[in-house]
Amino acid sequence: VTPLQRKVEDRIRRSGPLAVADYMALTLSDPDHGYYTTRDPLGATGDFVTAPEISQMFGEMIGLWCAVAWQQSGAPRTIRLVELGPGRGTLMADALRAAATLPPFRDAIELHLVETSPVLRARQHETLGDAVAGWHETLDDVPAGPMLAIANEFFDALPIRQYQRTGEGWRERLVGLGEDGRLCFTLAPMPAAPDTLPRAASVAANGQIVERCPQAEAILRTLARRLARDGGAALIVDYGPAESGPGETLQAVRGHAFHDPLEAPGTADLTAHVDFATLAACARDEGAATFGPIPQGAFLRRIGIARRLSRLLAGADENAADSLRRGYDRLIDGDGMGTLFKVLGVAAPGVGIPAGFETGRSP
Ligand SMILES: C[S@@+](CC[C@H](N)C(=O)[O-])C[C@H]1O[C@@H](n2cnc3c(N)ncnc32)[C@H](O)[C@@H]1O
Repeated sequence: VTPLQRKVEDRIRRSGPLAVADYMALTLSDPDHGYYTTRDPLGATGDFVTAPEISQMFGEMIGLWCAVAWQQSGAPRTIRLVELGPGRGTLMADALRAAATLPPFRDAIELHLVETSPVLRARQHETLGDAVAGWHETLDDVPAGPMLAIANEFFDALPIRQYQRTGEGWRERLVGLGEDGRLCFTLAPMPAAPDTLPRAASVAANGQIVERCPQAEAILRTLARRLARDGGAALIVDYGPAESGPGETLQAVRGHAFHDPLEAPGTADLTAHVDFATLAACARDEGAATFGPIPQGAFLRRIGIARRLSRLLAGADENAADSLRRGYDRLIDGDGMGTLFKVLGVAAPGVGIPAGFETGRSP
């Protein structure tokens, strides 16, 4: 029994079952025992590997995308470059190296990181050092002004609420204690208020589960309001379908393998698919334009990753060339990350179509 499991069980005994979102928030971010609070989970020896940890080309291409977005935003003298959930700081280190090829952009950057984990803040400090102007708990704390924001595998870590359609209407899904004393899923006795349900509820059949991430929606609204007011653009990369739909996607991963989300909380990563269509609608509601989502592989190819690969291969020995080719294939793979992961662009009206996208939707 993990210390966090004891804490969750005590809380349930005291105040009743927890919403899935509250369980997820405790599991990931409890100040003493939360998954992200207590560890660096990334890499081969950790629990999962992300795109920037697979290849330097991922962060480099995003750095170049930012340079173009800065020019499209009127090349402001200062721009906040903001990363949400920067992990080890690898993406940003690669992006800054690429950004340095355009000195006026490099000189305009003021780097802000939004990160709640003290362990990962320390890693980011090791990687990025003095390049960081400030760390923040939330996007609201980043100073106002033109902004370029990046989020890779950030939104999938935010707590979701789940609702199930039953013969008696919609019920919120909760985490409670079973008769055997173990954590189990259960349903709220009272119906869920209709305005708390996600859009996918209207097409769900009896027994199906729908999900909603209120925190992600709130962050998108803040982001879009700021972009519309001060200028700039954002890139959101994560896994999830392009269209909203019913389905249960909460999953736990530990040691690169799937894990029971209710077993040994605090020792496995918990995530859910990102509902891109809902996030894009929130952004347009607040006055920003949206682009995509499009598959990660298509996005990277359109912004020139093949050319970057050729440049790097030209100076690489056999071992390095092999690793570059493998990284490239994983990032754009049609059966893996290249299609599973999507890229959503958000921009102030007037920025035009950001690099990598072909069309967009106005606010
Ligand atoms: C899956 S990791 C992705 C890391 C990095 N972007 C990458 O691609 O390697 C999620 C990141 O988001 C951070 N994080 C999770 N929940 C957060 C929250 N509510 N606010 C800020 N950061 C959060 C984690 O500490 C971690 O840095």
